[in-house]
Amino acid sequence: MKTTISLIKADVGSYPGHGKVHPVLIETAKKELAKAEKNGLILDFHVMGAGDDLELLMGHRAGEDSSKIHGLAWRTFEAATKVAKELKLYGAGQDMLSDAFSGNVKGMGPGIAEMEFTERPAEPLVAFMMDKTEPGAFNLPIYKIFADPFNTAGLVIDPNCHAGFKFEIWDIQEHRRVFMNTPEETYDLLALIGAKSRYVIKRVFPKEGHPKLPEDEPVAVVSTEKLYQIAGEYVGKDDPVALVRAQSGLPALGEVIEPFAFPHLVSGWMRGSHNGPIMPVSFKYAQCTRFDGPPRVVAAGFQISNATFVGPVDLFDDPAYDLTRKKAQEIAEYMRRHGPFEPHRLPLAEMEYTTLPKIMNKLGDRFEKME
Ligand code: F6R
Ligand code: MG
Ligand code: MG
Repeated sequence: MKTTISLIKADVGSYPGHGKVHPVLIETAKKELAKAEKNGLILDFHVMGAGDDLELLMGHRAGEDSSKIHGLAWRTFEAATKVAKELKLYGAGQDMLSDAFSGNVKGMGPGIAEMEFTERPAEPLVAFMMDKTEPGAFNLPIYKIFADPFNTAGLVIDPNCHAGFKFEIWDIQEHRRVFMNTPEETYDLLALIGAKSRYVIKRVFPKEGHPKLPEDEPVAVVSTEKLYQIAGEYVGKDDPVALVRAQSGLPALGEVIEPFAFPHLVSGWMRGSHNGPIMPVSFKYAQCTRFDGPPRVVAAGFQISNATFVGPVDLFDDPAYDLTRKKAQEIAEYMRRHGPFEPHRLPLAEMEYTTLPKIMNKLGDRFEKME
């Protein structure tokens, strides 16, 4: 019987401001999920906070897109929203964009990364959670994990990885997708995913003929919900999450977290309208401070055992990432000095907050035609 791991997240309120999930919301979510575990709907769960996002990790047998599992996540977020409203937390219920659950949380506000697969004799899995950025922030690290031989030694020296992987890319503007193989289509793939606000990596699969893994079961998945497109206006961030399986014919655990040693620039800092470095941190520091950031990523590592979680290990709670954090702060400082100028501030089309239409209105006929 296959295992499904679902990571479903929403910002249903935080403190102070957009800083951090309140512990009482985590406790509320745990109570809801414990009930579901008791009645057998899920086999195990783990509740976490990443910045202002409440993260529900669930192990079950119901498959992807299950209305029962999505309904459980929705009810859990509703229960947490109720508490958030009582405490007058900031942005209480912000990502609950609909009043009525209709069988699937897709398009309703929460972000979802879930995958169904046949558990191997030992199944290592990493749950990544980012705050103050967008799904495209995963393009660079997921590419490096599964396609960059300078990151993943296994692509060169492990016969089980050597053939490469298959990427599912979503065009989130046109709502269409394409499958591409690496290494043979590497340059074409990069031409797309370098444009990270439009083309996002949704899933990675083993290629046909992988010696150890079925080609139709994903080995990585990223949440790709875009809140501002869902609601037709800016209502909050689409801070992404991802699940990545590791080892035994896949990139090793250390190859899965290696790309995060480089604090690459991502968009979504302050008001969803600024570029900044993504800083890998321990759960202790999964809170946003300076200029509502800098954008952060946490990583929880588990062994999956019959759809239950053995772990987590707080993978970035390690001096091995100290230098990265220092570099991230240097980059943050450098970017901040640009103030309201691009490329710190995003280009006009990508900003989630703007006063420009009002300014243009006000200037009106003061704009003069030039020869
Ligand atoms: C929210 C975020 C924050 C807010 C900012 C303004 O996830 O990234 O930077 O955009 O704090 O928030 P409001 O408009 O709610 O005061
Ligand atoms: Mg918030
Ligand atoms: Mg957030």
